[in-house]
Amino acid sequence: MAQLQPVRGTHDLLSVEMRKYRLVVNTALRICANYGYEEIKTPIFEFSQVFARTLGDASDIVSKEMYTFQDKGGDSLSLRPEGTAGVVRAFISEGLAQHMPLKLSYEGPMFRYERPQKGRYRQFYQIGAELIGTDSVEADIEVISMASVILRELGVADKVFLEINSIGDKESRDRYRAKLVEYYSKHKSSLSEDSQKRLGLNPLRILDSKDKKDIAINQDAPKLLDHLNDSSKHNFSAIQEGLKQLKIDFKINQQLVRGLDYYNHMVFEFKTEALGAQDAVLSGGRYDGLSELMGGPKAPSIGWAAGVERLCLLLPGEPVAARPVTIIPLGEAAEKWALAQIHDLRAAGLTMDMAYSGNMSNRMKKANAKKAVAAVIVGDSELAAKEATVKMLDSGTQEKVAFTNLKDKLKSIQS
Ligand code: HAM
Repeated sequence: MAQLQPVRGTHDLLSVEMRKYRLVVNTALRICANYGYEEIKTPIFEFSQVFARTLGDASDIVSKEMYTFQDKGGDSLSLRPEGTAGVVRAFISEGLAQHMPLKLSYEGPMFRYERPQKGRYRQFYQIGAELIGTDSVEADIEVISMASVILRELGVADKVFLEINSIGDKESRDRYRAKLVEYYSKHKSSLSEDSQKRLGLNPLRILDSKDKKDIAINQDAPKLLDHLNDSSKHNFSAIQEGLKQLKIDFKINQQLVRGLDYYNHMVFEFKTEALGAQDAVLSGGRYDGLSELMGGPKAPSIGWAAGVERLCLLLPGEPVAARPVTIIPLGEAAEKWALAQIHDLRAAGLTMDMAYSGNMSNRMKKANAKKAVAAVIVGDSELAAKEATVKMLDSGTQEKVAFTNLKDKLKSIQS
């Protein structure tokens, strides 16, 4: 019954996994809102060109990993492999230039045809933030500080470390690329097969190759930071100053180049050693030319995205579900009473459950299985006395509570 399995690289989110997802997403979006970011939802698919032109035809994502299909109207569409290109497309097509600088946050599924393993999926979720329309260094510092606050709030800060690099402006990068091509050409036959291909297409990507042969050759490769022009150098050192001022620890990794073509100047990654090969938890950088590349206005921008599943894997504990109070009505009259009562109590914001049928011990078992904090037991004698038996399920203690006080009593139990 292979068809009844989820597709390879996809997964259902339920129970603890869903609670972790919700905690991560809600925490991130709440902190983004504190920083003035407003949430945006873009479609899950776009015209393929939105991604192909912007992420780079030679990038792994575009050349190997996109879910691209022709729809019935003959258009080539792709499931989004990341969020930035769609957000910038929306920025342009919604005519938002007069609102610059614009702060947008998002969460949702992304799709990449990658080899699935722990922390790497074909449908995965990202939370992300984009600050569109400013080249100020403060923006670079702000997006990193916001990311670090989110990671701290989630309790994962001690499992991640920040690496930054500058890939400079176009002038610096062109100069550097020429130097790299010259260097790698001398070692071409010793490079991995993939990197030999990259040499013609995107030589910078050889720098972050994980292949042993490439790593050895990379040791002596020309360094990017030695080829930055003065304005790029100045930009990068101002960012470092700001991070130091905010006491955000970082390491410069000259081999961090990122896999997407739209970046310039600073790129960064919060990495972890806790997830094996999937070491990138939250990644981003500046993309000053993307809007213009897509036919929009000049809008220097910076942003990041984090893998929600990877954050979930790093969470220190398991968020628990809200513990309900279970009503156990005994007899027909009590059932009628309970039906109206539970309606009111839920409307008052209480988390309520009902154990409808079975003998008393079965119903108690059900309440315990749902981790109920208390059971409200009502039979004929309770109805006559207009009071319920409220039993605390952890301690086993019980007391009579007048119907008129029930709501307040349960509120105090659940708060
Ligand atoms: P990215 O590095 O491709 O950047 O992805 C961002 C994050 O998504 C990664 O750090 C990782 O945590 C997670 N991720 C990526 N691929 C997978 C996968 N197959 N399974 C699970 N998690 C994954 C971007 O997407 C850029 N749009 C980030 C950005 C925003 N740059 C500027 N603004």
